[in-house]
Amino acid sequence: MAELTPLDEKLGEVLGLAQATQKATTHVAQMEDGDRFRDQLDRMLDEAEETERRTDALIDSLEGRKTAIRELARETKSEAEEMLETYLGDEEEALDGFEFLMMAEAGELGHWEIVRTMGKATGEDEVVRLADWAVEIQRKHFDGVRGEQPRAGRGRGPRRLAPQAAWQGAHGFPQRTDELAPSLTLPAPLDRVHALGRAQDRPRGG
Ligand SMILES: [Fe+2]
Repeated sequence: MAELTPLDEKLGEVLGLAQATQKATTHVAQMEDGDRFRDQLDRMLDEAEETERRTDALIDSLEGRKTAIRELARETKSEAEEMLETYLGDEEEALDGFEFLMMAEAGELGHWEIVRTMGKATGEDEVVRLADWAVEIQRKHFDGVRGEQPRAGRGRGPRRLAPQAAWQGAHGFPQRTDELAPSLTLPAPLDRVHALGRAQDRPRGG
């Protein structure tokens, strides 16, 4: 097998993850309540397909190594799919699906950030351009599934929120679950904290 550089190996991994994500989003869409998130999951699926297409096109240009990189991608894909099976094998609700997607998308985001860092270090401009694009996509996916996760949990309100509902009732707040639901979304200031963190993450003048 061809000798692969660490960056080649990373490219194989992100290709495999993009393929596995397609299976994961399709799986979650079919879970209980998954219909409510169909649009978002369809968009993620499309973008994962596009990520696979662009990554594979780049790998295709790496003569002498592309076969080995694609083989590595297949291994990564099957490992990720095993993880999906382990995590969601017995689960039925989309809430659990979103918990899994949060892990998967965070992993994808991290991998692409590493690809970008390695690409910069080795002066691979084409890789950096692809990674710049993919990091934004993955960040959107991660933020999206993290934002949806509390929403997916709303259906469980009466059981989970009983103490809170009692407290709110005692303090004159609305008690109906559907009225409580907005308080479960991420508070806006927290969003700003994350945005701040992201701004600080960005390399300056590099
Ligand atoms: Fe993704």
